Amino acid sequence: MAERTFIAIKPDGVKRNLIGKIITRFEEKGYKIIGLKLLLPTLEMAEKHYEEHKGKPFYPRLIEYITSGPIVAMVIEGCNVIAEARRMMGATKPEAAEAGTIRFDYAVSQEYNIIHGSDSPASAEREIAIYFKEEELCSDWNTMLEIVTNGK
Ligand code: RTP
Ligand code: MG
Repeated sequence: MAERTFIAIKPDGVKRNLIGKIITRFEEKGYKIIGLKLLLPTLEMAEKHYEEHKGKPFYPRLIEYITSGPIVAMVIEGCNVIAEARRMMGATKPEAAEAGTIRFDYAVSQEYNIIHGSDSPASAEREIAIYFKEEELCSDWNTMLEIVTNGK
């Protein structure tokens, strides 16, 4: 069944000109981009996004990081995309990320690790709503790709 997940290219990924390379990975895998925008997260957005980490030692730096420059916010759709996008991203610590993952290929820091992806269906729904209105999502634009991603 098709799922939706929220992906963000974090400020370090944008600053290092990796937007195209990262988007390409998801496109080439066969996922459908149904929401896409470049934005500077407000403090309120960042705090909502990472509310599960409030109180942890790294939380203040995480909020500072995520509001430090524009991010690319995306909603992508496809079969098992929530778990598969996390697999494509690799582990939080780049040195623990499997070879060939985005974090293995492009990141060296556990804190500044290029990309975010929702970790569950509930997180995906919650995070998508922080960054997108439902009417900003374009779900029906490509029947051909629908066949590929949903196996119909
Ligand atoms: P994300 O939520 O951004 O997709 O990352 P994740 O699930 O792989 O990792 P999570 O545990 O949710 O941590 C969120 C983000 O906080 C920063 N972090 N810093 N200094 C530290 O120990 C530390 N731990 C996490 C990272 O930017 C991480 O992606
Ligand atoms: Mg997380």
